Amino acid sequence: MTATPAETVTPAETVTPADAPRRRELHLNAFLKPPGEYLAAWRHPHAAPDAGVNIRHVIELARTAERAKFDAIFFADLVGVPFADQEVLRRVSVVNDSFEPTTLLAALATATSRIGLIATASTTYNEPYHLARTFASIDHISGGRAGWNLVTSLNDAEAQNFGLDQHVDHELRYERAAEFFAVVTGLWDSFDDDAFLYDQKTGRYFDETRLHRLDHRGAHFRVTGPLNIPRPPQGRPVIVQAGSSETGKNLAAAVADVVFTHHPSLAEAQVFYADLKARARAAGRDPDEVVVLPGLATVVGRTLAEAEDKLDRLTRLLDPRVALADLAYWLGGVDLTAHPLDGPLPELPLSNQSQSAQRHIVDRARAGGLTIRQLAAQLTRDSRTVVGTPASIADHIQEWFEGRGADGFNVVFPYLPDTLDDFATLVIPELRRRGLFRAEYSGRTLRENLGLPRPPSRWSTARPRTRS
Ligand SMILES: Cc1cc2nc3c(=O)[nH]c(=O)nc-3n(C[C@H](O)[C@H](O)[C@H](O)COP(=O)(O)O)c2cc1C
Repeated sequence: MTATPAETVTPAETVTPADAPRRRELHLNAFLKPPGEYLAAWRHPHAAPDAGVNIRHVIELARTAERAKFDAIFFADLVGVPFADQEVLRRVSVVNDSFEPTTLLAALATATSRIGLIATASTTYNEPYHLARTFASIDHISGGRAGWNLVTSLNDAEAQNFGLDQHVDHELRYERAAEFFAVVTGLWDSFDDDAFLYDQKTGRYFDETRLHRLDHRGAHFRVTGPLNIPRPPQGRPVIVQAGSSETGKNLAAAVADVVFTHHPSLAEAQVFYADLKARARAAGRDPDEVVVLPGLATVVGRTLAEAEDKLDRLTRLLDPRVALADLAYWLGGVDLTAHPLDGPLPELPLSNQSQSAQRHIVDRARAGGLTIRQLAAQLTRDSRTVVGTPASIADHIQEWFEGRGADGFNVVFPYLPDTLDDFATLVIPELRRRGLFRAEYSGRTLRENLGLPRPPSRWSTARPRTRS
């Protein structure tokens, strides 16, 4: 085993430059919250109300997405139940019960064969060794289809499950996240790709010169390594980042293969897209190797009136107290009941949760001159939501893709399974007719389907194998 202390290796040094310009491909990720994205989705007559812990239901969703040839499915996560009034909590599904997502991916890996599998895991409330091992395992179990949505977590309720009173400060969280990433990716390189010989004749299991200790000593972590699992099939599972604050964007530009984001208009999406690609270039990376996917929630009908009717029926299921609590949550955990509901949003302190989410909502309220009550009532029709026919939704996707506001979309499903089924059977065929979306998977791994190279190990050199 080599025991050279690991150098600080920046992601740029481990990314293979593209040899030739590639044809730009549209990428679609299915953001699955088992009952559906909207808080009242579990009450929809077609929903599985226990979807969060109903494995058969989740497997069906994954298989539908795979038949439609989505690049990946994605599961969000919180490590706690956000604080809220009991009157509110008892009415919502998504935060109270659902499978831990990395465990879920292991199950889905054996129920699917081609689709990518992305789970959220926190860098604030985990240790890097654990996550490196978990995602390497999922990458092996799935044959190279794993992805990690690297988040810094959102709220005080999560902090209080890990020995803290308050959530860690925004900037400090991101500092820890960057070091966490360096440790995890260093651990994934513990064994060289060809380290394992499994030579039953000679009795040599692996080549010990191809095992490397990390010896990481940093501000947040001391990790010796090596990791106790072979290098992941993808070299490095796909890294997703979804913070859009300044610090979040810098981290994304440095480390992310895929960026989830959210923009109310094409013009804003274009600014973000160009900015993020420029930051990636400045970090020494090929900007084409950072796939930008804004959120898009769709409600599809054969006519616009049919689609509007579907959304109206969902909206009527949402209790106004839940809508108000959700609004307060995304504004950073403020108490909106202390303000007149028919008045404007008050001035708010900068959120320590998601600064980008807070900014979007405040901008929307100010631009529309909305009262708190009006803003809460519009939650099921947020700026990601496009209600329309297959053709009008395909127009939207095409315009954003060709206008370089997006490399594809993180498709959000207001209620399940219906809005996924509709997207798969109505919108995707329309995208194919326009030559915009694949008819078959081109690759075996998630990286291949995303058009991303397999990162070489930081230790890789053209060394001849030692003779056994
Ligand atoms: C599509 C999307 C999905 C996200 N999923 C999660 C999640 O599952 N868990 C979590 O803690 N944060 C999640 N986030 C939050 C971000 O990853 C990020 O930590 C947060 O927005 C704060 O970063 P910012 O202030 O840089 O925007 C998500 C954000 C987006 C846009």
